[in-house]
Amino acid sequence: MDEPRHVLEAPSHADPYAWYARLRVSRPLFFDEGLGLWVASGPWLVEQALHHPQLRVRPPAEPVPPALQGRAAGEVFAQLVRMNDGDFHARHRPGVEQAIVRWEESAVQRAAEESASDLVTRCDANALLSAIPVQAMARMLGVPRDALDATVAWVHAFTRGIAAGASAGALQEADAATVALMAQGEREGLPHVRAANRIALMQQALDATAGLLGNAIRAALDGAGGDAAEIVAHVARTDPAIHNTRRFAAGDLELGGYAIAAGQGLVLVLVPEHPFGRGAHACPGDRIALQLAAAALRTLQSHAPLSRIFGRANGYRPLPNARVPVFTPGATPWSP
Ligand code: HEM
Repeated sequence: MDEPRHVLEAPSHADPYAWYARLRVSRPLFFDEGLGLWVASGPWLVEQALHHPQLRVRPPAEPVPPALQGRAAGEVFAQLVRMNDGDFHARHRPGVEQAIVRWEESAVQRAAEESASDLVTRCDANALLSAIPVQAMARMLGVPRDALDATVAWVHAFTRGIAAGASAGALQEADAATVALMAQGEREGLPHVRAANRIALMQQALDATAGLLGNAIRAALDGAGGDAAEIVAHVARTDPAIHNTRRFAAGDLELGGYAIAAGQGLVLVLVPEHPFGRGAHACPGDRIALQLAAAALRTLQSHAPLSRIFGRANGYRPLPNARVPVFTPGATPWSP
């Protein structure tokens, strides 16, 4: 089997883990000329980088990507805790954490069960993975039943629009989706920043939880033992959904004896030690993501043998940081 050509290809590689293990020993930190980015995979260096005050989640000169500037989607992007450091992050992260801790396991489970049962009969296998976590999160946020489908579509449009390289059409759809989603949050009385980060709860549930659920389904199809919660917990450690994250140097700094210049970017490899990140930006949604994926898996298993719904796994979505399996093309919605 060929090796991944670089770190951004590894998440979609059939089995990248031996390659990661070699990389962290042979080149724990190096500058990848082809990518124009530093790559840190040594666990201690990654840990240091995730706590380094000068390593920021956005390039300092570009808090909002140029394509999003002056647009509704860009305005929300600028308010996200995920995309900010320093004072803004410190002030608003507690609100995001509070929004998440209020959900008890029973509420997460109910939302995931209802979403999986609703969607299994009308989405194909791959659409199912992306729709269940977002619909479940929308239910938890109190979105009325008749607005769930529109909300899921808006979250998908927002996510496509803020991705690097989005087309003009995708940007326009993201703006329209942003306006609709902000109006939802503001109707609930949320202040502007909270309404923006309410969107992020659904957006963060998307690729990451699709990957967690998809990799758990894949493991179950391959015969993994244990109940749904055990399979999900095992997969979160051994075949996680998020493989890397980015940081940017806000000033000249030193890491592991290397000089990193202001403005340079780093890819931090999070597998296997930090599947939910670490430091100020560590995932506040880890508990509910695990509960949501386990309840969704259990519900899907109760509807039909997983192989009838998902066919076979056949590669991964071509994403640079998330590992989301693709199931047999042509798998059709399961019908009783
Ligand atoms: C219900 C689902 C989820 C929600 C609501 C959620 C929410 C969030 C939020 C709000 C942040 C940004 C925190 C900050 O910047 O201070 C974040 C970061 C993160 N999340 Fe999640 N998340 C979810 C699922 C997942 C899953 C399934 C994974 C991986 C298996 C994951 C991995 C991460 C990682 C690695 C980060 C840190 C990124 C970085 O440091 O650059 N999340 N999450």
